[in-house]
Amino acid sequence: MTTNPSTTAGAASPLAPEWLQVPADLNALHEPLWAGGVTRNDAGELAIDGITVSELQRQFGTPLFVMSENDFRARARAFSDAFNDAFADICGGVDVYYAGKSFLCTAVVRWVEEEGLRLDTASGGELAVAARAGIPGPDVALHGNNKSDGEIHRALDLKLGRIVVDSLAELERVAKIADARGETAKVMLRLTPGVHAHTHEFIATAHEDQKFGLSMAGDSTEQAGLSAAEEAVAAATGYPGIELLGLHCHIGSQIFEPDGFALAAEKLLDFLAAMQTKYSIVLPELDLGGGYGIAYTPVDTPRPAAEIAQAMAAVVRSKCAELGISAPRISIEPGRAIVGSTTFTLYEVGTLKTVRVDTPATGKPGEPGDSVTYPRRYVSVDGGMSDNPRPVLYDADYSAILASRTSDAAPQLSRVVGKHCESGDIVVRDVYLPEDVAAGDLLAVPGTGAYCWALSSNYNYLARPGVVAVRDGSARLIVRGETEEDLLNRDMGV
Ligand SMILES: Cc1ncc(COP(=O)(O)O)c(C=O)c1O
Repeated sequence: MTTNPSTTAGAASPLAPEWLQVPADLNALHEPLWAGGVTRNDAGELAIDGITVSELQRQFGTPLFVMSENDFRARARAFSDAFNDAFADICGGVDVYYAGKSFLCTAVVRWVEEEGLRLDTASGGELAVAARAGIPGPDVALHGNNKSDGEIHRALDLKLGRIVVDSLAELERVAKIADARGETAKVMLRLTPGVHAHTHEFIATAHEDQKFGLSMAGDSTEQAGLSAAEEAVAAATGYPGIELLGLHCHIGSQIFEPDGFALAAEKLLDFLAAMQTKYSIVLPELDLGGGYGIAYTPVDTPRPAAEIAQAMAAVVRSKCAELGISAPRISIEPGRAIVGSTTFTLYEVGTLKTVRVDTPATGKPGEPGDSVTYPRRYVSVDGGMSDNPRPVLYDADYSAILASRTSDAAPQLSRVVGKHCESGDIVVRDVYLPEDVAAGDLLAVPGTGAYCWALSSNYNYLARPGVVAVRDGSARLIVRGETEEDLLNRDMGV
């Protein structure tokens, strides 16, 4: 038998995931999700530095990425200060490379530079942005597991501070290219320490089954008895075109606990000390990568940067003492932790649809009992997987709030979806929104600064949205939105 209970205001829907609570106040902003300067004004409208979302829509249209420049700068400084304080007595501080892959444009490169950070790039295109912004080459790193010769030449043209080499074959190519140019390339070796972390958990294995980096485990395929990592160190010391600065690792993303970083640091320091002794070299630098997590929903509780920095510093301090080596200069590569929470995406609501979903009477799938149906409302917005593919790619969770007004209506379990021809085109899988959300309302999705615009596409020939930076009460486009002309520009018509 199937029954249709009516929804009770404030009651959790059995269709909601366990972690999702019904908010006590649907209009309230959960502070960790939002950039500084985002508030509701007296009329109940969401505003950033006093600029209302309806004004932003009027000036720039929707969908729109709305970024707080002050918040970006503050997070960059806070991260850099926390790590510099923690490592000051160990290695004189750290070098913080902002991971440009998370979000990059020339304005952001300038903010990064002005706040005393460096820049991590991962392609010739990202290097082109860095060059256009005018950041000095020595403050820039180049990553990538499959760099082209052109990208290596470009890195040398720009006199980059470091090329992070990913494989033995690439080391040889960099050495040859640098040698042929009569130059020396500054190189870090990216190693896979067998530590992979995600949010609260990490796993430690001997091998890393992934495309990046040089394995620290077992024999390399090239030379019996040596790991690929050691073989690269040995080879690097013999190439006149290579200056080996040190070692690098990156253990994952959206990591909340410091344990995985600490274990990776210990493994790399053990290896670094062994290599220094065996090959009579000094490796002056160690990069511990990025991956520091942020809040996407109210249940995400990342640790403050200072706590992670202190935990990592304690491990580096004691490991170097145990090994009897001077600590290498430490660097890190945060992306998401700097830009993620600076931005919300503004969407306009279009079509609404409510479906009734069967669920067992117990509310627990798989348990016997009469079936009960509960409503789930689909709220379509004017963007979707083309401006935020993370829910589709990684099952990423987000939050959303009614932004253009407040509402006293009851909470209704909703799914915010895009306008693409994919049923998986989900922006926010589960969120309680007021029952009276209607076409024309504006929704804001916080935490979209990292890996949203950067991963955006033109699927269904949607134009990519613009990015607006708000600072001290004024808003300006830092990346304009695409037009239909942009979309048609590359179609040769033949
Ligand atoms: C090598 C490397 N460094 C840094 C980062 C930045 O990670 P996050 O944005 O999670 O801090 C990434 C992300 O994929 C990466 O691959």
